Amino acid sequence: MASRLYEWLDSRLRLKPIGKTLLDEPIPGGASWNYVFGSATLFLFVLQAVTGMFLTMYYVPSTDHAYDTVQYIQHEVMFGWFVRGLHHWGASAIMLAIGLHMLQVFFDGAYKPPRELMWMVGIVLFLLMLGFGFTGYLLPWDQNAYWATQVGINMAGRVPIVGDLMVKVLRGGETLGALTLSRFFALHVLFLPSMIIFGIMLHLFILRRVGPAGPWDEKKAKEGSETFYPRQVYMDAVVMLGVFLIVATLAATIEFPLADKADPSDHSFVPVPEWYFLFYYQLLKYVHGPLEPFATWILPGLFFLMLFLLPFLDRNPQRRISRRPVTLGVGMVFLVIVFGLLGISLRDLYAVPKTDPSVIRGKELVVKFACKTCHRIHGEGAAIAPDLSFVADRRPDREWHLRHFRDPQSVSPGSFMPKLPLSDRQLNDLTSYVLTLKSGV
Ligand code: HEC
Repeated sequence: MASRLYEWLDSRLRLKPIGKTLLDEPIPGGASWNYVFGSATLFLFVLQAVTGMFLTMYYVPSTDHAYDTVQYIQHEVMFGWFVRGLHHWGASAIMLAIGLHMLQVFFDGAYKPPRELMWMVGIVLFLLMLGFGFTGYLLPWDQNAYWATQVGINMAGRVPIVGDLMVKVLRGGETLGALTLSRFFALHVLFLPSMIIFGIMLHLFILRRVGPAGPWDEKKAKEGSETFYPRQVYMDAVVMLGVFLIVATLAATIEFPLADKADPSDHSFVPVPEWYFLFYYQLLKYVHGPLEPFATWILPGLFFLMLFLLPFLDRNPQRRISRRPVTLGVGMVFLVIVFGLLGISLRDLYAVPKTDPSVIRGKELVVKFACKTCHRIHGEGAAIAPDLSFVADRRPDREWHLRHFRDPQSVSPGSFMPKLPLSDRQLNDLTSYVLTLKSGV
């Protein structure tokens, strides 16, 4: 049945030669798990496109509605939270997949002649992908979105000569606002997708014209060539399924929370960028004064220029990594710096004093047991009993508080503080909270 349909279609559309070109592409040295990163990236791109289309059904790119519509998608729309989760985690996954794809091509020397154009188109694709990340981040219109974008646009403004123009083009108006949001939305769903689809087609077209690079070991490459179908198709499919399962699991289990709605007047908000910009965010913290332009635009500008021109800068004809000490060295130093900065940045982020959950519960118990009917804490409450604002200064001893809460009279004979029916956990939580009440010096 299926084969008769195929024959029928083939006699009209002449499909066989196309199937042949698509599937019988020879891979020098045979199929390999090393070559799956490109297809993983492509798969994730399709996932982003599909989930993005569904999000667009509800999302409204206006400053009055953007935040609410994202909330609506998250809490009301059936599976809205899951689709949004897929789109969020898919965006992270795609950056990771591109990174791995580029590292594989870099260390394998697959960008060398005759594949220079494929590499250069690839770098453009990478830049477009960063553009997706940057424009997409603003769309939920929460505090993080607003202030992180503000930082990004300010950085663009530091570039000499074209900086002002870039800010105008990005922002659309005098301040970051309604015009910026419409513009970022249009870029995110129309301009960038059409550009990137063209780029992807070009990338694949070139791949088909020059063929895959295969292993650096020429002997191995000549030994056996294998067609794309079936083994490479199978490997790619396995990886795509694996990638989907990982992204779906993340989407199903870890919600990406919205911050408060964007408040342009709240200049105290410190935004946290996406993890793939974190290392760079860390670098910016170290440079001040005359070095600042160096970090804000000279370094990234040079980096992308050199990356783009890599096939012409690296004239070493060898592909084997052990014969390319300079490339290997530069690549390793780059990775060490990036991961070092990322590590420091993550450590700093998590070092931000997070309130101990026990303390939070203790604070709630203070409300529940109406402690302020007798005690004053930071100006609130009655002054019948001692002011507790800085009680830990005079009583830093945990044991004392535990005993006191269990039975006030046992440590303060004659106390009229009630003996409260507290569980061990509540005792502990109250004590943890009370011990935070100190002057901080
Ligand atoms: C009916 C009034 C009353 C209520 C309600 C009350 N306390 Fe007290 N509290 C007192 C009095 C009186 C003292 C002073 C005598 C003593 O140490 O027991 C005191 C002492 C304390 C002390 C020691 C202060 C110091 O300077 O030595 C702490 C800590 C304390 N209370 C915490 C609490 C907490 C927490 C709650 C709520 C769960 C609470 N109290 C509810 C009356 C009250």
